[in-house]
Amino acid sequence: MADPIRDDLKVQSRTAILVSVPDSSRNLGKEQALDELKGLVKTAGVKVVGELVQMRGRPHPGTCLGKGKIVELKDLVDATGAELIIFDNNLSPGQGRHLEQETQRIIVDRSELILDIFATHARTAESRLQVELAQLQYTRTRLKRMWTHLERIEGGIGASRGPGEKQIETDRRIIDQRIDELKLRLAEVEVRRERMVRQRESHALVSLVGYTNAGKSTLMNALTGADVYVADQLFATLDTRTRKWTIPSWGDLLLSDTVGFVRDLPHSLIASFKSTLEEARQADLLLHVVDVSNPEAEEQAETVERVLDEIGVEVRNFILVLNKIDAVKDRGIVDVLRAKYAHAVTVSAITGEGLDKLGSLVGELLGQGYVEAEIVTSAGNGKLFAFLAEHAEVLSSEYVDSTATLRCRIARNILWKVNGEGTSVRLL
Ligand code: GTP
Repeated sequence: MADPIRDDLKVQSRTAILVSVPDSSRNLGKEQALDELKGLVKTAGVKVVGELVQMRGRPHPGTCLGKGKIVELKDLVDATGAELIIFDNNLSPGQGRHLEQETQRIIVDRSELILDIFATHARTAESRLQVELAQLQYTRTRLKRMWTHLERIEGGIGASRGPGEKQIETDRRIIDQRIDELKLRLAEVEVRRERMVRQRESHALVSLVGYTNAGKSTLMNALTGADVYVADQLFATLDTRTRKWTIPSWGDLLLSDTVGFVRDLPHSLIASFKSTLEEARQADLLLHVVDVSNPEAEEQAETVERVLDEIGVEVRNFILVLNKIDAVKDRGIVDVLRAKYAHAVTVSAITGEGLDKLGSLVGELLGQGYVEAEIVTSAGNGKLFAFLAEHAEVLSSEYVDSTATLRCRIARNILWKVNGEGTSVRLL
């Protein structure tokens, strides 16, 4: 099969005009409307040759832009010779088709751009599978438009060489088969990952989540000394990494970094990234990292909460980490966020400010669910030792004759499982 979906949407090194019709609920000024999209296209390697913003409250249902703005866009295309037009909005297949007909240029919407970036940044077999699945699901409904792209790219011969409904139907079937295959392979990977995460139960698991570019990887490096990939690019992290973090008031725990979130994530992408976020789902504590130097910090924090909710991460225990305090110009955002959340710490992953305080708070919150206990049992009680090795942190052990005395840190809610014949438990 020709692959109009994957090849045609590669945006790297192409020239583009950026367009946004910001939703009025985002309260953005015209000047800021394209800020985030600029970050995204920089990551995608696009060369920006023109910009267009329309403040119209709601996008036009048929064409996203109003009539006058479309004329303006066409003039801009002529003046710049841009190859692509990239929208910050998600477009319906109809809107995309209309805009392509009007401008005779390839239209890329927000979801397609994000998928393209994810595809370029996926570094493991698992995330590549996930991105491919998401791309196929998203573009399946847009096949007709894809074929229009292809015809033009191959010389603009136009409708006479069009694929026709039959060709589109055949492609759709091939895509469906591939989707089924990808789902099967991902299900296998998912089982393996869940098993891996469960095996780590002997240590408390703390997971970093946050909007893309919030500074999660930098914070992970600052806290653990790990060499996690950091780049001034969005989505530098497409796979979870886990490292050991030692804090004085607690001891060793596992800290995992996760993929960055972004507003209006394509739905299919959220679903397929569930397994990558398995660590976040199983975490004892989440560190929600927010870039407080960004004027949209509050909205970004809300987006992260919404996405977490959508992917089924129950946020019971979390700390809001207000990062990049060294770069903050507007203290107002910091004050608003601090007042809104019960546990908030201001830090700078770059200068190290506030990191000790963050460590103490993590120890304190984790400790609320854990107790230290002395367990006395028979030295031959292999079953209990295996259980403790998996579910508790054994701080010390002493063997006298046939009696073992263990000091453990263990979650309060599973302490009852330790109690049994010939075993005594005393809280310390
Ligand atoms: P994704 O992988 O996209 O999710 O990003 P991330 O949240 O892991 O962000 P990352 O750690 O890659 O940092 C993004 C950018 O912010 C980098 O250029 C960092 O150097 C910068 N940065 C991170 N923390 C701080 C900070 O405390 N202060 C300042 N000034 N910059 C920071």
